Amino acid sequence: MAGETLTIIDNRTGKSLELPIQKGTEGPPVVDITKFYKEFGLFTLDPGFLSTASCKSTITFIDGDEGILLYRGYPIDQLAEKSSFLEVCYLLMWGELPTRPKFEEFSKIVMEHTMLHEQMLNFYKGYRRDAHPMAIMVGMVGAMSAFYHDSLDIQIPRHREVSAFRLIAKLPTIAAASYKYSIGQPFVYPKNELGYVENFLRMLFKVPCAKFTMSPVLVRAMEQIFILHADHEQNASTSTVRLAGSSMANPFAAISAGVSCLWGPAHGGANEAVLNMLNEIGSVDRVGEYIRRAKDPNDSFRLMGFGHRVYKNYDPRARILKKAAHEVLAELGREDDPIFKLALELEQIAQSDDYFVEKKLYPNVDFYSGIIQSAIGIPTNMFTVIFSVARSIGWICQWMEMISGKESIGRPRQLYVGAPQRDYVPLHRRP
Ligand code: SDX
Repeated sequence: MAGETLTIIDNRTGKSLELPIQKGTEGPPVVDITKFYKEFGLFTLDPGFLSTASCKSTITFIDGDEGILLYRGYPIDQLAEKSSFLEVCYLLMWGELPTRPKFEEFSKIVMEHTMLHEQMLNFYKGYRRDAHPMAIMVGMVGAMSAFYHDSLDIQIPRHREVSAFRLIAKLPTIAAASYKYSIGQPFVYPKNELGYVENFLRMLFKVPCAKFTMSPVLVRAMEQIFILHADHEQNASTSTVRLAGSSMANPFAAISAGVSCLWGPAHGGANEAVLNMLNEIGSVDRVGEYIRRAKDPNDSFRLMGFGHRVYKNYDPRARILKKAAHEVLAELGREDDPIFKLALELEQIAQSDDYFVEKKLYPNVDFYSGIIQSAIGIPTNMFTVIFSVARSIGWICQWMEMISGKESIGRPRQLYVGAPQRDYVPLHRRP
C-alpha cells in the first residue's frame, strides 16, 4: 500500500490531514499519527493500547484471530517440536536459525557465563526465607548492574551483546538460587557441560547428598515451556522494558522493570493464579459455581488462564502445553491427576458456555503450564520466576531492537481531567 493515506477531518474547523498508512510483512497496516498533535492540537487517547502500535518490530508476529505465533517468521509449533531454547535464543537475537558452528559457539558462550559473581550470593541472605521468589528476582536482576559494570555503555554494540549473554546465562542461576534459599537448601553451582534447561532443573533440584536424575520427557517439557514463553510481541512486560530502556537505563535495570511487570496476576503471575484457582475449586462439581462467578460483572473473580488481549482464538502455546501435560503425567504414571482432570473439565465447560464463546475467551499460555511445572515438582510460587527466565530473551531482543533503532525516550501524554488552575490558600484562611 505504498503512498496510501487516511484522511482525517476536524469538523470543528473543517481542516483535513492526510496521514500515511504503513504496511508491514504481516498483520494490520498502521496509520502514522506522529504529525497529529502538531497539525490538529489534539492527542489521541487509547489507555489500554487497544488500537495503538508502539513500535515497528522484526522479532515476533501474532495473529490473534487465527491463533498464529511466529518467532522471526517460524511458527511456534514447529519450534516447540523441533528446536531447543538456546537455538530459539539465537534465532530471536540474530534473526536467523544458526549454522552448527555458530550454534556451538553461541551455546559455549552462554554456558560459560552461567556462574554468578560470588558476592551476589550474599544478597540472598538479606531476604526473608519466605520472600516470594519474584521479589528476589526483581532485586537480583537489578543488582546485576552493581556487578557487571564493564558492559553498561548501551551505545556500544559489544556491551549490549555482553549484557545479553550475561542475562541469558545468569537468570537461571539467579532463579534456582532464589528457590534454594526459600527452602533452606544450599545453592547448586551450574554445570557447563549440561544443556541449558537440564542445568537449570539440576540447580533447582540437586542436593549434596543425592545424585540428580530427571526423565528426558520432563526435561523436554520444560524446554518447551521455555521456548513457548520466550517472546510475545509488545505485551505489558516487554513494553515496560522498552519504555524503561528508552530512558537509556542500563539493560539490567530495564529487564528488572520487566520482571516487576510480569509478576502481576493479569500477566505472567497468571500461571501461579491458575494453580491456586484449581486448588480452590477442588472438584468438578464446584466448577459451575466458579463459572458463574467469572461471568458475574459484580464479582471481581476471573477464570485465571483464560482470555487474552490479542488471542481471540485458542492460544497456540496452550494447545502445545496441553499435549505436553498429558505426556508428563503419563511419564509419571499420573494420567488421572485430579488437578489436570479438573483443568480439562473446566476448559470443556467454559468452551461450551455462551459467555466465554461470545467474548472469545480461550485458555491462554498460563492455563496448562503450571500443571506441568507442578508435576515436575516446581512449587507454584516459582512459576512466574520461570516465566521471567524464559521471557528474558524476548525482553533482551526487544530492548536491543529499540536501542539500535535510536528511538527517542517514550513519553506518552494525557487527557487532564483534574482541578483547573487555582491559587494557594494559606492554612489560617481555610475553613
Ligand atoms: C499473559 O499480552 C500478552 O501477550 C501476555 C502473555 C505473554 O506471553 O506475554 O500472553 C502472557 O499475560 C497471558 C494472560 C494471563 N492472564 C490471565 O489468564 C488472567 C485472566 N485473564 C484476564 O485477566 C484477561 O483476559 C486479560 C487480562 C488476559 C485480557 O484482558 P483484556 O484484553 O483487557 O480483556 P478485557 O479485560 O477487556 O475482557 C473483555 C471481556 C470483559 O467483559 P466485559 O467488560 O466486556 O463485560 O471479557 C471478560 C472481561 O470481564 N474477561 C473475562 C476474563 N477475561 C476477560 N471474564 C472472566 N474470566 C476471564 N479470564
